[in-house]
Amino acid sequence: MTRGFVHSPSPTRVVFGAGTVAQAAEEVRRLGGSRVLLLARPRHGEKVAAALGDLVVARFDGARMHTPVEVTAQALDVLTSAAADCVVAVGGGSATGLAKALAARTGVPQVILPTTYSGSEVTPILGETENGQKTTRRSPDVLPETVIYDVDLTLDLPVPTTVTSSINAMAHAVEALYAPEANPVVDAIAVQAIRGITHSLPLIVADPSDVDARAELLESAWLAGSCLASVSMGLHHKLCHQLGGQFDLPHAETHTVMLPQVMAYKEKESPEALAKVAEALDVPDAAAAVFDLVTELGGPTSLRELGLPESSLDGIEPASVLHAAWAGTRPDGAPTLSALTAQVLASFDNTPDPRLKQLITDLVQHLHHFAVHNDLTEDEWLFAIDFLTRTGQISDDKRKEFVLLSDTLGVSSIVDALTNSRSPLTTPSAVLGPFYVEGPPAMEHGADISGGLDGEPLWVSTEIIDTEGKPVPGAVVDVWQANKDGFYDVQLAEVDGPVLRARFVADDEGRLTFWTTLPHEYPVPEDGPVGQMLGGTARHPYRAPHVHFMIMAPHYHTLVTQLFVKGGAYMDSDTVFGVKNGLIVDFPKAEGEPPAGREVTADGWHRLDYTFRIGR
Ligand code: BEZ
Ligand code: FE
Repeated sequence: MTRGFVHSPSPTRVVFGAGTVAQAAEEVRRLGGSRVLLLARPRHGEKVAAALGDLVVARFDGARMHTPVEVTAQALDVLTSAAADCVVAVGGGSATGLAKALAARTGVPQVILPTTYSGSEVTPILGETENGQKTTRRSPDVLPETVIYDVDLTLDLPVPTTVTSSINAMAHAVEALYAPEANPVVDAIAVQAIRGITHSLPLIVADPSDVDARAELLESAWLAGSCLASVSMGLHHKLCHQLGGQFDLPHAETHTVMLPQVMAYKEKESPEALAKVAEALDVPDAAAAVFDLVTELGGPTSLRELGLPESSLDGIEPASVLHAAWAGTRPDGAPTLSALTAQVLASFDNTPDPRLKQLITDLVQHLHHFAVHNDLTEDEWLFAIDFLTRTGQISDDKRKEFVLLSDTLGVSSIVDALTNSRSPLTTPSAVLGPFYVEGPPAMEHGADISGGLDGEPLWVSTEIIDTEGKPVPGAVVDVWQANKDGFYDVQLAEVDGPVLRARFVADDEGRLTFWTTLPHEYPVPEDGPVGQMLGGTARHPYRAPHVHFMIMAPHYHTLVTQLFVKGGAYMDSDTVFGVKNGLIVDFPKAEGEPPAGREVTADGWHRLDYTFRIGR
């Protein structure tokens, strides 16, 4: 069906960037302003006042939520008596609302500097309250002339407010997609806004001072606000308005709770619109994904937690949406599956070992959630089963494909960190890897472990001490490494028996020395399922160059670790995520006579000197 539409682009001028506050004076003059009334609270106001300099003839910091007309009257007095010819507002919805109210009454031009993600700065909508009654008008007269977005003004917006106000912004974009006035420009803007909000929010929650993420969010909030400006809002805004008005619920939090529930409801009515959201988010179920996002970001998911009694919802339609929103149920439309999950979990009720019970029930929950969340197909699950089967089939006592899978998925490094990174006083640990062989050949100090294999000679001299700096005599130290081409002995058909692996016992001073060859980067085995995973995800298979050590001593915690060659390849992208700062070491070219009577070629030799600290 041909979609007819009207599009009328907004005339608002938008200046976006970091440090753009500095352009405020220029923007005021551009509008012909020479006498500014500054509407700002002191926090950000000072910065803007400084940028405007003597253009500022008056200030007003009394803006309030819902733009009460009596506050507007006070500000109007200030405007008139100062003979101001431009208003500059710094802040969120309240400051913007007041600027618009002044413009509606006097036609004064407005420059807005938003400090939140409200979006109202780009809408021609003004909501005012008088005697507790809210009236809303939509008129080009209230649309700000200029908006200056300066990401620096948003850096200190607290995380909870950032989350709820961004989901509020997302609601503008979502509702634009099924609005009767929607058009291709609005669609594109809405999709981009949803994508940007979803991408940047988790980054900001992880690091609230992430300027790039804040900029992406601010940009997305502007786009979402533009949607609100272009089309009329639907069921979600109507319900939030009603709930807010009737029960005095907090605005952005109410939007945050309601959005996924309304989206689930709208799925039946406007599947194409919701499909666009799902596509933007790259998920099968948009409503469930937004619910999960809010949960993950720590935002509210139920009206119950906003303090509303369930009985207050009687008579508000659609009842199913409101009751789901009250309870905060995940809108995945698959109640039978969650009953099934409960049944499976209950089957483990009698597990005698509490730890086993905890691990297996949690694993089942995560697996069920994974399947539901991704709308997993039978073919995909059968592929996964086949992948694991092949991983088992290729494995034997030398080829440890499951270890490699755990390593390349980063699980080994996580478990290693949880188990071993107990103290900053000991040498950091690193993954064992699949190439350790139990019981390597015992060797004397100064021996050459390379078995005559080619490579640049490397002299290793190490000392084992405890956390008090005392040597640990008699410590048993296993070392193993790949040859210059990146192969371990177990991978080389022509090598019979152990090479480039040995066991040493530390002397009375906790020391040991040996000759080996300089390690190089190498690919992990790629001819099995793990190689298929790396190839299918466009990952490289390389490990940064390293030597492995396992250090054992009675009463001490065994240390399994690796030393990495400083300046070596793939240090930033080791395919098993094993590199840690404390393990990156110089393997410098050495001067002078090689130790232990070793003869070297004209290319010389390298050395590695390192002290391991082990703990009890
Ligand atoms: C290794 O360094 O030997 C290794 C570690 C994890 C996976 C593959 C190889
Ligand atoms: Fe290795």
